Amino acid sequence: MTGSAAAAMLAASSSESPPPVSRYFVKSFGCQMNVYDSERMGDVLAADGHAPADSAADADIVVLNTCHIREKAAEKLYSDIGRLRKPRADGSRPVIVAAGCVAQAEGAEIGRRAPAVDVIVGPLAYHRLPALLRAAQGARAMDTDMPASPKFDHLPARRHQGASAFLTVQEGCDKFCTFCVVPYTRGGEASRPAAALIAEAEALVAAGAVEITLIGQNVNAYAGGMSLAQLIERLAALPGLHRIRYTTSHPRDMGDDLIAAHAAIPKLMPYLHLPVQSGSSRILKAMNRAHTRQSYLATLDRLRAVRADIALSGDFIVGFPGETEADFADTLSIVAEVGYAQAYSFKYSRRPGTPADTMADQVPEAVKEERLARLQAAITAGALAFNLASVGRRTQILLERPGRKPGQLIGKTPWLQSAVVEVPGARIGDLITVDIVAGHENSVEAVPVSPVQERAAA
Ligand code: 5AD
Ligand code: SF4
Repeated sequence: MTGSAAAAMLAASSSESPPPVSRYFVKSFGCQMNVYDSERMGDVLAADGHAPADSAADADIVVLNTCHIREKAAEKLYSDIGRLRKPRADGSRPVIVAAGCVAQAEGAEIGRRAPAVDVIVGPLAYHRLPALLRAAQGARAMDTDMPASPKFDHLPARRHQGASAFLTVQEGCDKFCTFCVVPYTRGGEASRPAAALIAEAEALVAAGAVEITLIGQNVNAYAGGMSLAQLIERLAALPGLHRIRYTTSHPRDMGDDLIAAHAAIPKLMPYLHLPVQSGSSRILKAMNRAHTRQSYLATLDRLRAVRADIALSGDFIVGFPGETEADFADTLSIVAEVGYAQAYSFKYSRRPGTPADTMADQVPEAVKEERLARLQAAITAGALAFNLASVGRRTQILLERPGRKPGQLIGKTPWLQSAVVEVPGARIGDLITVDIVAGHENSVEAVPVSPVQERAAA
């Protein structure tokens, strides 16, 4: 059912029975940016009179917010569409919206391959969802424009509830790494004006957020009238906001002022996600990364000089075209040298339209698999070492969700470790002081320093 259909039903309903409301569900397939967009699409639909559903199965509108970064994303989309288009027990099926980066890159093909899709909308046009849903009655509606007037000018106010919130400050990418589709799907770098971001952050804090993560494809290239470091400084002045993070950064844009901010701003958490992709300068050149192994390591030295305890995270690609065993050995050695707290690793995935797709010396799948397994073992060993080294630290954790066992809660340390703790009476959103007492591959165990609660936002 579309917004206008819902409105028509609302108008027709009698006072005895509650009015039927069209319910939406947004499924995220991608990065934090994709998660932010999903939340904002929910805001757009709510502002148009729809209500959230708990699952796709009981929604009237299902939005599939796709990711295009590696292959298989499109296949996931088509299998979801296949499930959704089957009539339910009452004969109905939901309105199906294909959104996100696959919709942007392959909108026309989705239209051909999946006639059940009612709306196709790209990541830069979803403020137009209500109009598209109305237009979709009887015909497919599609909008994969990259408008000059940014969607943010048209989005309704945030409705986010919760201790930790994402805030998109920048979108798009001008770097053109030879493996990556993002410059094509998300367009060039565009920053939101600082004043709008400060207002959105104030609203988030007023609604209970104690942590804000500033997100963007190239967040440290932020240029919305001030630098990212200056924006962080402004946000740090907000009372009630206790923690600031940012992701994802490019090594090339790690400016002196951002590094200095890690020393000067206590609310800026000591954690940096700084993808390197490969430890081999030869491969980095073929990737068009505009940094070398040495310049990347020098950037980390500058950071550690001002913030010795900073935890590092990275992204890696194995099996980029032409990657030899010696190049891969350089990747393993940079993992050991940096001592990442955590890292994400991927097999190189050919993306049509990107320069690397047509490079010679594509690496066989079996070699990629084998290198990925070795790299992941090294990353896991590094994460365990990092977590073990933090045993004995006294620190604060922000409680984010219930743990697996009754009474357990999971909070995040400043270094983004998941800390499992039991604190009777504590609530999600509390910041509590703990001692870290044990370390595992994916988490640490902590005990509260005192049973007394410190209400974070109070
Ligand atoms: N193949 C594999 N991994 C990729 N990434 C981006 N493009 C590709 C690709 N074609 C990875 C990079 C990036 C992360 C978000 O996804 O490591 O940092
Ligand atoms: Fe995926 Fe990139 Fe789109 Fe995020 S921006 S959803 S990682 S393709």
